[in-house]
Formats: sequence, C-alpha cells, structure tokens
Amino acid sequence: MTASGQSLPDPLPDAASLRLSVAPMMDWTDTHCRVFHRLLAPHARLYTEMVHANAVIHGDRARLLALDPVEHPVALQLGGSEPELLAQAAAIGAAHGFDEVNLNCGCPSDRVQAGRFGACLMREPALVADSVAAMIAALADAPGPVPVTVKCRLGVDDDHDYGRFRAFVDTIADAGCRTFVVHARNAWLQGLSPKENREVPPLRYDWAWRLKRERPDLAVIVNGGIADADEATAHLERTDGAMLGRAAYHDPYLLHRLDVAWFGGVLQSRGELLRALRPYVEAQLARGMALKHITRHVLGLFNGQPGGRRFRQVLSEGAHRPGAGWNVVERALAATESGRRAAA
Ligand SMILES: Cc1cc2nc3c(=O)[nH]c(=O)nc-3n(C[C@H](O)[C@H](O)[C@H](O)COP(=O)(O)O)c2cc1C
Repeated sequence: MTASGQSLPDPLPDAASLRLSVAPMMDWTDTHCRVFHRLLAPHARLYTEMVHANAVIHGDRARLLALDPVEHPVALQLGGSEPELLAQAAAIGAAHGFDEVNLNCGCPSDRVQAGRFGACLMREPALVADSVAAMIAALADAPGPVPVTVKCRLGVDDDHDYGRFRAFVDTIADAGCRTFVVHARNAWLQGLSPKENREVPPLRYDWAWRLKRERPDLAVIVNGGIADADEATAHLERTDGAMLGRAAYHDPYLLHRLDVAWFGGVLQSRGELLRALRPYVEAQLARGMALKHITRHVLGLFNGQPGGRRFRQVLSEGAHRPGAGWNVVERALAATESGRRAAA
C-alpha cells in the first residue's frame, strides 16, 4: 500500500520466462520432474504440483516444498480460499525460494469442491481478489519480487458469457494480480472426472486472445490442449506465453525443441540430455532416493522414436529393482540405440 492507500501493482514475472511454461500437475511435476525439465528447457517457467495452503503451514515442508537450485524460475502453486492462510503459505513459499506464487482457480476435483477452492473460485471473484491482495501484501517484504499469479478456467458448468470471465479477471486484477494463466475451457463441476474435465469441455483459445487484446497491461498465458511446437508458437503471436502440461510430460523432448526454437542454443540429442541428469540422479541415490522416483518422469523421452518402447520397458523394469543405479539408465539407452539400428 502507498501512503494514499492505493495498492502498488504486483510485479510481473520476467517476460521472457513467461513464454514457455510447464503446467502444475499433481503427482507429476515434483522436484525430480522439474529438474529434468529444466535440463531440457533452460528458459521455461516451471510450476509445482498444487499444494494446499494448510499443508504448507502445517505439513512436511521439506517434502512438499522440496526445491533444487537448478529449478529457477519456479512457481509454487497453492490451493485454498482463506486469504490469511494463503498469505501465510505464500510467505513461507517465498522464504523457501520460490519465484512466484500461483493460486489455483481451475481444479475441478470433488475434494477441491468440498473444500471450496480450485475451479469453484471462478464463481467467487471477490474472495479470490481478497486472497490475492492478502498474498501480495504478505510478499511485499520478500527479498526479491515474487509475483502472485492466478491459473483459472473460462468459467464453470454452463457459464458461456465472456463478460463474466472478463469481470472475474478484472476483479482479481484490481486486487493487484497482473498475470493470468488461462486454461481455455470451462470446468464442469458435476458429472465429469478431473481427467474428463481436461478433455471434454471445448477449448476456446479466442477468449484468452481477446483478454490479451483488451487488457494488454496484463500478462496472459494460454493453456489447454497445446499438442505440438506449431500450436505453441501460434499462441505467442497473440498472448505472452504458452503453458504445456500433458504434451510436455509425455513427450519431454518437445520442451527442448521449443526452448531452442524460441530462445536459441544448440539442439542436443535425447541421450545427451539424459546423461546430463546423471550427477543429480547419483546425488539423490546417495541420499537414499530410489531410482524409480526420478526415472518415472523420463519415460517419455523417446516417445515416437524407434526404440522408444524398449527404452520405457528396460527403464521401468530395471528402476523398480532394489538398489537400482545409473547403470539401468545406460542399459535403457543402449537398448534404445539397438532398437533404432534395427529400425534403420
Ligand atoms: C496429472 C495431472 C495433474 C494436474 N494437476 C494440476 C494441479 O495440481 N494444478 C493445476 O492448476 N492444474 C493441474 N492439472 C491441469 C494442468 O495444469 C493443465 O491445466 C491441463 O492439463 C491442461 O493443459 P494440457 O492440455 O497442456 O495438459 C493437472 C493435469 C494433469 C494431467
């Protein structure tokens, strides 16, 4: 707040790092996954899985907020709807070193609905505005700028009114939030599983594009169903960035190709990129981490390539054995190579 009582605008994340981001995904984007994605895409913005504010405050922070220094820039995604708790959790996240705190207004699961957070918040713009304002205030004293951002849908159930979506964004923006990740479809709160809610409600990228046209002062990131490099690149002409979820996870080399295409650098082979993970893997193994918890995130690296299935097979079988070490990864790479030679 200024002396006149006006809110200072929340900082915008660095523009370049908004262009490419990897979506928050529960059970997927843990710290091991993010370290791997960072090697592939040095310029991408990474997101944690959603963590509830209560868990941040009362839970096992060493596990929930685990963060490796290579991950930056990385955002902590929070779930919750109580402004004071969210503010407290945001401050804890910033103290742990996160570069951004993102509020989840898009998750449709039953658990989330029972707790009145996630996508239900699309119907409660005033509460989201209060939450965002409390988080921004809590981060004002952070050592560096830590923006508060929102990830939302277009609406819930049968809201098909752009004006309502725009009013939601405007209300939150008035509270100081300047960056919106728009998963460009509705969430249907009745009758669809979370998985179906990522596939069935139709995508309407035009709403996100229109938002950016009408509010050029805001950073708008498009998310939802972006499947390949051409699609991702097309969004850059109309918005500040593209956030990829499933495509990045299932075909992580796509992240590398996008990073090189958009930011420059030399395209590395899949094998080179994977071998660059070795020091991290060995350090984790030395601390007692099982190989499988790390390698599960790399199984898609050879997706669509000759030998890709063999890579998956050798790696997933070998990594589950007790005491599995880096040699399992080398075996998987060798099996992939021979699969490739056979296909040539
Ligand atoms: C396994 C999985 C877990 C997800 N968990 C979260 C989450 O914790 N927070 C969130 O905002 N969205 C979550 N999402 C939604 C994604 O962030 C993203 O909005 C959605 O998958 C659409 O993008 P995509 O089509 O590029 O995958 C999850 C998606 C998947 C597939």
